Amino acid sequence: MSILTTLILLFFFICSPSAAYLLNELQLPPHLSGPESLAFDRNGGGPYVGSSDGRIFRYNATGPRSGSFVEYGYSSPIRNKEMCDGLTDFSDLQTRCGRPLGLGFNNQTNELYVADAYFGLVKIGPNGGAPTQLVRDVQGTPLIFTDALDVDPETGIVYFAQSSANFQFRNLTALLNSGDSSGSLYMYDPKTNQTRELLRGLSMAAGVAGSNDGSFVLVTEFLGRRIQRFWVRGDRANTSDTFAVLLGSPDNIKRIPTSNHFWVAVNNFLGPPPPPIPPVSATGVRYSENGFALQIMSLLDEYGTQAVSEVQEFNGTLYGGSLFASYAAVFTPYL
Ligand SMILES: *[C@@H]1O[C@H](CO)[C@@H](O)[C@H](O)[C@H]1NC(C)=O
Ligand SMILES: *[C@@H]1O[C@H](CO)[C@@H](O)[C@H](O)[C@H]1NC(C)=O
Ligand SMILES: *[C@@H]1O[C@H](CO)[C@@H](O)[C@H](O)[C@H]1NC(C)=O
Ligand SMILES: *[C@@H]1O[C@H](CO)[C@@H](O)[C@H](O)[C@H]1NC(C)=O
Ligand SMILES: *[C@@H]1O[C@H](CO)[C@@H](O)[C@H](O)[C@H]1NC(C)=O
Ligand SMILES: *[C@@H]1O[C@H](CO)[C@@H](O)[C@H](O)[C@H]1NC(C)=O
Repeated sequence: MSILTTLILLFFFICSPSAAYLLNELQLPPHLSGPESLAFDRNGGGPYVGSSDGRIFRYNATGPRSGSFVEYGYSSPIRNKEMCDGLTDFSDLQTRCGRPLGLGFNNQTNELYVADAYFGLVKIGPNGGAPTQLVRDVQGTPLIFTDALDVDPETGIVYFAQSSANFQFRNLTALLNSGDSSGSLYMYDPKTNQTRELLRGLSMAAGVAGSNDGSFVLVTEFLGRRIQRFWVRGDRANTSDTFAVLLGSPDNIKRIPTSNHFWVAVNNFLGPPPPPIPPVSATGVRYSENGFALQIMSLLDEYGTQAVSEVQEFNGTLYGGSLFASYAAVFTPYL
């Protein structure tokens, strides 16, 4: 797309602010919350979501328990069912029970990769169940707070982010009020079992998405209010630049498979400065492959003053995740 076309599109969309209608709330089992991120398997099954008690659930649209989330697996290799089932968020027990945040399938093997806040990068086999821990430290340094990932559909390489090297997930409030910039972007190659750090010094890395053609990978900085781009291939390989500067805090970012666009969950803190103090106003922002904001969609009806952590488009439908909600949202945009 030429720059001129993009500018015309940008003008058009800015003149057409949109919002979204909530179609459905897919409820987690009682007491659980925090479907921070969503994934779909290669057969279109799901969404799969992580939860506060360390389990990963699959939403069954059909079958004997259609219309509900069914337990699929978990992300802590030392999880104990009696101790963990039903656990609410930010409990210290999550250091044993696990806290699955970023999710993504390898669409060739149907293995589910999980960024667990406490157990690094793990994967769950195609039939669900127990995890295999893949990366818990990088060059001898333990991961502290793993948050988001994306799996390259061609190469199977997993790009994942650590939010902070100083604060754990249970210290999220302290992290949000810090000026921390110890986040990193990593790549894990399942063929070699090697992990490489691509970027460091990120201000709370929160979301990761590769481009459809695998030439670059994007990482959001929640506190830095930016999206950084790391070039994987081509003339600029192994360099990075700024993809977009935002007015709000970007959380997860998701590639739209049918276009080269991305959905970013953005929270604008409405309270008096300094941020980040709630209340927030939740939006989904669609970016072009060149980093232009094409559409800004208010999610106020969905989330009120709660933060949205993910907006994802799958098979023509939009889904929303939130660290604080007890459900995954299904919605439709309107102009
Ligand atoms: C996509 O949605 C259409 C109906 O809108 C449905 O027939 C089809 O099975 C869906 N595909 C997947 C992979 O879910
Ligand atoms: C959920 O759906 C999967 C795939 O269709 C199926 O294997 C499983 O038995 C279903 N679970 C329940 C409890 O219905
Ligand atoms: C996996 O993803 C690639 C790239 O998006 C696509 O071409 C391919 O059809 C997908 N394979 C499956 C089994 O879904
Ligand atoms: C993180 O939280 C734990 C208890 O939940 C506390 O012991 C620890 O001091 C906190 N660390 C930081 C860096 O705030
Ligand atoms: C992959 O590397 C990790 C250490 O980084 C090690 O613990 C694990 O056993 C290795 N897995 C395989 C399959 O080699
Ligand atoms: C990028 O850097 C890595 C690590 O130094 C190196 O192995 C790789 O060949 C480089 N890629 C390109 C395209 O220069």
